[in-house]
Amino acid sequence: MIIGSVKETRESENRVALSPAVCKQFIKSGFQCVIESGAGAAAFFSDAAYLEAGASIAGSVSEVYAKSDVICKVNPPSLDEVPLFRSGSALISFAYHLTNRPLVESVNARKIALFSMDAMPRISRAQTMDALSSQANLAGYKAVIIGANESGKIFPMLMTAAGTITPAKVLIFGAGVAGLQAIGTAKRLGAVVEVTDIRPETKEEVESLGGKFISFDTGGSVKIEGGYVKEAGDDVLARQREILKKHLAAADVVITTALVPGKKAPQLINEEMVAIMKPGSVIVDMAVEQGGNCCFSEAGRTIVRNGVKIVGQTNLPSQLASNASESYAKNIYAFLTHLATKDGFKWDMNDEITAGTLICRDGNLLK
Ligand code: NAI
Repeated sequence: MIIGSVKETRESENRVALSPAVCKQFIKSGFQCVIESGAGAAAFFSDAAYLEAGASIAGSVSEVYAKSDVICKVNPPSLDEVPLFRSGSALISFAYHLTNRPLVESVNARKIALFSMDAMPRISRAQTMDALSSQANLAGYKAVIIGANESGKIFPMLMTAAGTITPAKVLIFGAGVAGLQAIGTAKRLGAVVEVTDIRPETKEEVESLGGKFISFDTGGSVKIEGGYVKEAGDDVLARQREILKKHLAAADVVITTALVPGKKAPQLINEEMVAIMKPGSVIVDMAVEQGGNCCFSEAGRTIVRNGVKIVGQTNLPSQLASNASESYAKNIYAFLTHLATKDGFKWDMNDEITAGTLICRDGNLLK
């Protein structure tokens, strides 16, 4: 089986789906790898490193598509790229199939088998293949670093000859994968960390990382499915906003990570709440690409309101392209060696991982 990878075409994307180290692993397992020249450059992987790993380098995108039985990408391909795929080949990438129907239909019309990395079941067996988690983990780290950089305050307590500097207060919305990493990172930098989540079971994890969990009565209107929040009523969000006001007023850096899969991100910080925050404080809105947790957030921009900086940087894992690509490539290795041998795909539809991630095959839409 020939595995191909190309340079990502999304703007400001530095990641690549296969690293030289992972190519080496694939080749050891009997697969072949073909990489577009320069595909890994933005993640600091040279053509020479891929060649040394045993991969071959192709001079053009079309050559990679023509040779490959399976193409591995980070981002979904553009509609213009789909005709380049060989009919009957396979594609593994983040596809966001529920909100990206024109792409799914176009891929399916070309009889390409599409496996979507964001459809990976959140089960123990699939943890090594879980790219949503590997990337969210790095993004949670980066969000804190950005917040610290934008803030005029240091994070740790400092006792100096000129007096004592109190530690920064960091408030984190959402204790999923990104939020938990943000707690750990902010704690390591010496901040005092408070956390809110509408899944009460996250309290224990938050406390184990040294965060203070802000509890409130979520009533019965929060629906959880497979560990995800499916729905949170307006009454819960209103109660949460009321409780959080005093915590926001004291915060130096706020990191928001709250998502509800398949829906617009919940708006957790409104105009009134930004107005009570301290001048010089910072909000890093990690949900900005899904509409944002703060009413003022704008994707790709930093807005200042009443002296509060609201940072809407997108695609944080791309800013850590070397680690993010290596982790993503390891997820791909675990996934593809689960789905296939060097001689081809197993197509085991009784397997929860295959059935969960396969979006279309042979001209049939499965999801
Ligand atoms: P996510 O990215 O979908 O959401 C982030 C966090 O925001 C979640 O903790 C969610 O409860 C929280 N949230 C939603 N609305 C909120 C609100 N109004 N206020 C505050 N917080 C709010 O979550 P992620 O990180 O993708 O994790 C989802 C679930 O999957 C979790 O239960 C996690 O433990 C589980 N998981 C399981 C894995 C496995 O077993 N293989 C791997 C990774 C995650």
